[in-house]
Amino acid sequence: MPRGKIHAINAIQVLLKAQELNPKIPGISLNLGLAYYHQEKFALAIPEFAQVVQAQPGTLNQIEEEFMPHMDRRGFLKTGSIATVATYLTGSTQTHLLATPQSEPAKPIAATDTLQIALIGAGGQGQGDTRVAASIPGVKVVAVADCYNGCLDHAKELWGKDIFTTRDYNEVLARKDIDAVIIGTPDHWHMQASIDAMNAGKDVYCEKPMIHLYSEGPKIIDAWRKTCRIMQVGSQRVSSIIDKKAQELLASGAIGTLNMVTVWYDRNSAQGAWEYTVPYDASPETCDWPRWLGTAPKIPFNAEHFFQWRKWKAYGSGVAGDLFVHLFSGVHNITKSKGPIRAISTGGLRYWKDGRDVPDVMMSLYDYAEGFNLSVRTNFVDGGSESVGFVFTGSEGSMTIGSDGVSINRVPRETEPGVRAEFFSAPIQKRMLEIYREKYPVTHPTGPVLMGQERYVAPEGYSDHYHHIKNWIDAIRSRQPVVEDPVYGFRAAGAALLSNLSYETGQPARWDPEAMRLL
Ligand SMILES: NC(=O)c1ccc[n+]([C@@H]2O[C@H](COP(=O)([O-])OP(=O)(O)OC[C@H]3O[C@@H](n4cnc5c(N)ncnc54)[C@H](O)[C@@H]3O)[C@@H](O)[C@H]2O)c1
Repeated sequence: MPRGKIHAINAIQVLLKAQELNPKIPGISLNLGLAYYHQEKFALAIPEFAQVVQAQPGTLNQIEEEFMPHMDRRGFLKTGSIATVATYLTGSTQTHLLATPQSEPAKPIAATDTLQIALIGAGGQGQGDTRVAASIPGVKVVAVADCYNGCLDHAKELWGKDIFTTRDYNEVLARKDIDAVIIGTPDHWHMQASIDAMNAGKDVYCEKPMIHLYSEGPKIIDAWRKTCRIMQVGSQRVSSIIDKKAQELLASGAIGTLNMVTVWYDRNSAQGAWEYTVPYDASPETCDWPRWLGTAPKIPFNAEHFFQWRKWKAYGSGVAGDLFVHLFSGVHNITKSKGPIRAISTGGLRYWKDGRDVPDVMMSLYDYAEGFNLSVRTNFVDGGSESVGFVFTGSEGSMTIGSDGVSINRVPRETEPGVRAEFFSAPIQKRMLEIYREKYPVTHPTGPVLMGQERYVAPEGYSDHYHHIKNWIDAIRSRQPVVEDPVYGFRAAGAALLSNLSYETGQPARWDPEAMRLL
């Protein structure tokens, strides 16, 4: 076994030993170990364990001698690195802990190198993105634009009363002290805000879906190429270590040849169905309604439209733009595909008949020229518990991606077809069996049986969001490509929005993923 590998360590044993050696070690709890044991999550116990024994090097030495003779001690002490090497056996499941990329800067960042960023569209996701960006060393939030006073005031609560706030993002873009902007507006503003920002010399992080209408994709790509700005699209799973592992597993043949991807997003709650709470003070005075509407059809102030915009296609893109786009960003990353060639979609408005003009149940089927099919559905009325599933099926197994990791399941196919003769007369049955065995003599398997489950889990608290925004910040500094540029973003959104197109026309929607064109 190579140095640095821990194989088949029983976390319970380790925890028990630690307690025996030093019962005063804080935080090491047998109950924790047992809980992890029952959840088959040994891997998760280890980083926690590593963290608490760091302060007790003597104890660590003794544990190492007894249980981890092959282990790299420095790797163990550094919780991030242990992940690369940890492998545990839990029943028939092998669990591996994935490594998180190094997140600290290689060297301290000089004050003169501080990146000054601004937020355009300071609602839920924009605030989330900006909080993450501000947690990266050398990044400072200096300005925020939004159309609702409550969000502008909250921005000052979050990033200091001295930040510049405005309803007009052009005032932000005109400032020379701003290097880059995060765009967290509703979908109908993504193109204009991104192009305006790049033309003003700012690097851009734009939330998904990159486009609202197909015609917007080439315009964003054009502006990006002309201005040579760094632009990252915000489907954070593209930076996920879980999806990266899934990509490696698929490429290594872990499930054979991919033939199907199955995804579902099922919800059963008002918030899940976008019935977001409208603030009590929403009014034409506190909300800049004309600016918020932008190019959308002019209608009188409507607080529901302002705060629950996903329910109308004038501003959002239905479940396809809100949810499916994450799936396509992930599938294209994992399979290295540029996109589907055809989609067929159906659905309807079944329950949330609150004036919305987009379906709350949608099912779509996609063809990929690489030789696999994809099915995706959303049900906002699933009548039970909410669930999300992401399953890749191949000729030799299946791969399931969850929020905390990726699993491989393999059940070997029978090596002979079997014989079905019981409906025929006894002599015929007998002779058929003889013929069958002449053709398929009984063999006794040798070597290991290729079956069982393998799990690759992310460390507890892992955030792909952080790594996605970090990837953008690093690219701004290095001027190197990001993981999800506008071409990638258009291919993901272009694929997702085929569902809407097919649903609306009642016809299959065809797409050229290479040229990024509807056919
Ligand atoms: N990556 C993810 O996981 C994820 C999750 C949620 C939302 N999103 C995306 O983030 C975006 C925002 O979603 P949200 O839920 O935060 O919406 P939200 O309604 O909470 O926030 C949008 C904000 O944009 C502001 N705005 C609208 N037009 C503007 C303009 N012209 N200038 C400045 N501000 C303007 C609004 O006033 C509002 O405060 C959407 O595109 C959505 O698809 C991504």
